[in-house]
Amino acid sequence: MMSPMRKTADAPGERHRFVVVASRLPVDRNEGPGGEADWRPSPGGLVSALEPVMREAGGVWIGWSGDTGPAPGPFRANGLDLVGMGLSADQFRDYYEGICNATLWPLYHDVIAPPEFHRRWWDAYVTVNRSFAQAAVIQAAPGATIWVHDYQLQLVPQMIREQRGDVRIGFFNHIPFPGYEIFAQLPWRRQVVNGLLGADLLGFQRRADATNFLRACRRAAGLATRGAAVRVGDREVQAEAFPISIDAEALEQIARRESAGKRAAEIRMALGEPDTVLLGIDRLDYTKGIPHRLHAYGELLREGRLGPRVVLVQVASPSRERVGAYRVLRDEVELAVSRINGEHAEVGSPPVHYLHQSYPRDEMAALYLAADVMLVTSLRDGMNLVAKEYVACRYDESGALVLSEFTGAADELNGAFLVNPHDIEGLKDAIARAATISPADARRRMRLMRRRVREHDVARWAASFLGTLARAPDSWPIPVP
Ligand code: G6P
Repeated sequence: MMSPMRKTADAPGERHRFVVVASRLPVDRNEGPGGEADWRPSPGGLVSALEPVMREAGGVWIGWSGDTGPAPGPFRANGLDLVGMGLSADQFRDYYEGICNATLWPLYHDVIAPPEFHRRWWDAYVTVNRSFAQAAVIQAAPGATIWVHDYQLQLVPQMIREQRGDVRIGFFNHIPFPGYEIFAQLPWRRQVVNGLLGADLLGFQRRADATNFLRACRRAAGLATRGAAVRVGDREVQAEAFPISIDAEALEQIARRESAGKRAAEIRMALGEPDTVLLGIDRLDYTKGIPHRLHAYGELLREGRLGPRVVLVQVASPSRERVGAYRVLRDEVELAVSRINGEHAEVGSPPVHYLHQSYPRDEMAALYLAADVMLVTSLRDGMNLVAKEYVACRYDESGALVLSEFTGAADELNGAFLVNPHDIEGLKDAIARAATISPADARRRMRLMRRRVREHDVARWAASFLGTLARAPDSWPIPVP
């Protein structure tokens, strides 16, 4: 593997040759009854993707601790060197809830919810990005590799570059990058493009995202591009697709444990031993298309197309709960669930089991094992790791995946039933087909998807990104056409 992936012998307090800068730390603070705190591994897409890479590389991870208390600073937890950043209450409101999750998130997800633009929020974005960049500058050893992640930190690459010409900087965008007509709405579009272009290599989930970014470079910043390269003064920056994945092997090991099989059987028993279990697992987010899924399921029940013994388990883990669009969505989802249950339940057997909770990985693996059909109906999704997790857990090659074509995963998982979630009839047909699939067809499709997920796992993703970054020349003069 490349140099940044080699284990370093960094002692605490020393500078690191590999630095990850991400919105969140890979651990959550947990307070005991006596007020004593410890840090536990936290669930989530970004974390599950990067943690194995971090352990392998022996680097340092800079991220927000998750609350508005004082910054924890440098510490060690779960065998990782971490630097906990703080957010003030105002920054939590203006940066985290404001520009990150009420401006950039909806804008980058095709304005499914209307983005809000406030200058005060932007000022907070600049300030917080500067503090993350500063922490990276302090932690990075001479010649270090710094890997910055996601839409919350788009100014960090340029802010680091201004102070440290010696480091190599990569940036990976976990969410989609929108088409220019949408991106152009952002009053600070030029600053965002220039912030990102401080990196040597920019990674996106899909080729379409990279293409959208290259167009933004031309239109918003007037820069010349050639293929995947953008010319920035005497430098060239590459913008390419690196579809993220999961630690498929580790998750399959959890699913193969006897305890997981037992727990899956218990879940099916608790559900009343239905013939068919449908499963949705999402953060409660408007990008996930949960109302569309419920709409289709409600109609299928009314039409009796799934038979009488079918159950939908919908896990919707709490997320960004104080942001307006998320409150509206929660009400909408909970109303739809109640309506379906009100119309179709018998005493003791509701057709929707709705769980507004988060679960540890063991329980998630058991849920994946218990489900005949996995429903992923996102309206827009950078990748969707849940789809890949389901596939990784189905080691007996059974089960079917209904997958929105608006996810990054749809480019890779050819064995899925692809759907346009806005097309309720099409979605209903796909769910009905997936629920009645023959074992042979299921096996054929699942085998195809499992091969993809096992071969293209998170280690390969990281190696591919870091390998490309390591090969990036310090400056690449391109011939002007
Ligand atoms: C997505 C983003 C991550 C983010 C996560 C959870 O996966 O790509 O950057 O951390 O959602 O969102 P939150 O607002 O809780 O950090």
